[in-house]
Amino acid sequence: MYIENETRTKKFKMKQKSLPILYKGEILYGIHPVYLALLEKKRQLFQLFIKVQEENCLKTEKNERLSKIDNIAKTLEIPVHYVDSKVMNYLAPGAVHQKQYKLKKFSARHRKKFSFHFILGVCLDAGALPKLEWQDIEYKINEEASSDLPLWLVLNEIVDPMNVGAIIRSAKYFGINNLFMMKGSSCKLSPTVSKASSGALEVINIYQIEKLDHFLQVKKTQGWNIVSTGAYCENECKTSKEIKDVSDLRISKPTILILGNEGKGIPFEIQRLCDIFVSIYPTQNLHPGIDSLNVSVAAGVILYSISSKIKSHSI
Ligand SMILES: *[C@@H]1O[C@H](CO)[C@@H](O)[C@H](O)[C@H]1NC(C)=O
Repeated sequence: MYIENETRTKKFKMKQKSLPILYKGEILYGIHPVYLALLEKKRQLFQLFIKVQEENCLKTEKNERLSKIDNIAKTLEIPVHYVDSKVMNYLAPGAVHQKQYKLKKFSARHRKKFSFHFILGVCLDAGALPKLEWQDIEYKINEEASSDLPLWLVLNEIVDPMNVGAIIRSAKYFGINNLFMMKGSSCKLSPTVSKASSGALEVINIYQIEKLDHFLQVKKTQGWNIVSTGAYCENECKTSKEIKDVSDLRISKPTILILGNEGKGIPFEIQRLCDIFVSIYPTQNLHPGIDSLNVSVAAGVILYSISSKIKSHSI
């Protein structure tokens, strides 16, 4: 397991006093990432920060969840600090700014009334997620006695953390437990990704691959089907292979789905190893300039379509 060797210290100035805040690892923020990190215990868990209530709103749904988190941390014997919103702002600056921006839309009276809904409630100081190598999974897979065909997802150099988070969230929703990313060239699995995934990052298994072509070759010899996304194109397509609408896809083998980089798509060496290309066909003629889907939206549609075929296959 990975341990930060250096403890970061900074003086944090508040109006009356100066307060040193020490943290060792990454600062996870948001109810879902923190809750799931505590439940899964994949990371090293250092300390929990909970924002002290400014208003008596303990009855709200949000606070019920905060007190649940508080209890889990106590059971695990993790130190819990009750802090104010300034400390939260210091620990996870991006997160709070985003929330405060939303507040501007409200009048002063409403802002006071509703502010507790918008201000970040919890942060967790935790170690990085342990790095998994794809060879590790080969042993596990034989033990998995599932009647369903396995579906694995490869993110080929998807770089935007919001996209990566959104895709991980959808993948978990559709029952994918194993996800693969390229070593080095993919986006870092940061607290931002965990937040964007609504904590699914804490639950799903993410493996690192160094050579995607080698990985795919191995899986092909084991009888897996390699499906890749291709851009829908009315006239000229760059790939020589046919691109099917995802709803016409038939699934009868264990499947690996590859999602390509936002801009570049799937490199040619990888395309050569793919059995089928899928796309989402539009339901009417495309307006010029609005001719594609956001990669995380496309991922959601394709994952839904493939996972429902897997389900019907096993019935
Ligand atoms: C695609 O959607 C995600 C959220 O699902 C968003 O964060 C990202 O910025 C979008 N990408 C583009 C290019 O609009």
